Order: sequence, then C-alpha cells, then structure tokens
Amino acid sequence: MGKYIIAGNWKMNKLPSQTHDFVKEIAKVTEGARCEVVCCTPYVCLSEAVKAAEGTHVKIGAENLHFEDSGAYTGEVSADMLVDMGVDYVIIGHSERRQYFAETDCTVNAKTKKALAKGLIPIVCVGESLAEREAGVTMEIIGIQVKKAFADISAADAEKVVIAYEPIWAIGTGKTATSEQADEVCGGIRAMLAGIYDQGVADKVTIQYGGSMNAKNAAELLSMKDIDGGLIGGASLKSADFATIVSSVK
Ligand code: 13P
Repeated sequence: MGKYIIAGNWKMNKLPSQTHDFVKEIAKVTEGARCEVVCCTPYVCLSEAVKAAEGTHVKIGAENLHFEDSGAYTGEVSADMLVDMGVDYVIIGHSERRQYFAETDCTVNAKTKKALAKGLIPIVCVGESLAEREAGVTMEIIGIQVKKAFADISAADAEKVVIAYEPIWAIGTGKTATSEQADEVCGGIRAMLAGIYDQGVADKVTIQYGGSMNAKNAAELLSMKDIDGGLIGGASLKSADFATIVSSVK
C-alpha cells in the first residue's frame, strides 16, 4: 500500500554526545534496507543526528513542533527551525504528548498543516486507550482522531502524511496488539481516508503500527495487508533490534 517506513521514536532517551555514533551505527546495521529508515530524536540531539545521517540512507525526524511560525512561545520549536537543521520528519500527537502535555486533536491538526506547509513529513499518531477498546469504541475514537487530524488538508497533502496507529495500552507495556487487531484498525483507517478523499489517496498513505513492536514480532505485524511500517520506541534504542525490525520488511 503506502511506502514502507520504519521509524524509531527515541522519546526522552540518549544524550547529544551519544547521538552521532548511534546514528552512524543505525546507518551501518540497516544498510540495504528495503524501506525508509528514520530516527526521531529529542530536539537537542537533532543537530548531531543530521550530521551523522548525511550521505547515508537514514532520515532524521523530530518528536514534536509548534504550530506557529515564530514568536513569544518560550521553550517551543518551529517547523522553520527543524527545516533549517535538515530534519525531514516530525512526530505529531503522540499519545504521551496528548496525555502529559495537553495535545488535542485541534493542535494535532494545526501542527500537521504547519509541517506540510513547510515540507516536513508528519507522522500523525492515533490510538485508543484500554478502556476505549474494552468499551468497543476503538474505531469511533480513531475515526474522530483521523477526521480531525486531516481537517482542511487537501488530497495532494494528505498523501504525504504518515499515520501511526499506536494503541495506548500497547505502548511500552510489552503487550503488542495481535497482528489481526493491528491490521483491522490500520485497514479501518485506510477506509476512513478513502471516505474523506478517495481510494487512490488512501492507498498512498503510509500507515504504521506502533506499540511494543520488537525484533520478535515485527515480521508478522509487517506482513499484514494494511500495515506499512512501524513506529518503534524501546527497540529503536538498540541498534541490533532496530536492524532486525528493518530487515523484517519484505
Ligand atoms: P514502544 O515500542 O516502546 O512500545 O513505544 C511505541 C511508541 O510509543 C512509539 O512512538
């Protein structure tokens, strides 16, 4: 379906002083990858990450951005700043940001539009909580998140967006969604995109799965029809595990 992308989300891990060597290592162990390989790093690591990735196949992403161009927003980072540094991707609306930093579907939409306007590739995260899954409202919750994230985004821009389906109950818990559960929601997201735009657009969008994806379960998850890659937390911090996940893309 969409282009295969395996992206690491380092979250608040690794130091700037560790970044250069680690990104070089990732480039080495993922050489010849059959998919796009991305490392999303903390803001303070980006400069070293971009330098290390230069001349390799590895792309670098940020973990957040602000939706305004510039101004009095102490502590925030704009899309222009990321572009200026040579960053290609940006994660938007990760559940940890929604949960701890008041990120809403509204800010996710504003940030997605800003990223697209500036030429960054947004990785938009959606996902249900355990309570929502158990209440049987997973697709309704995902539907609202997807519709709001894509509000006022043209078909031409929508094709460039990457969606990461990350069930909150599977993040950092070691509890992976089964490949059937993950594929069902990813397929549902593709059907929603076909409804908002058309099937052609829906087929071009990369839909990743994220949530305890690791060297052992990646091959099965990535073999599913509507799963076009992964957004990897813990396992992206170990180069050998990350390389195994990348090489699981067939
Ligand atoms: P884990 O792979 O550590 O579960 O994290 C997933 C995630 O949140 C990636 O964004």
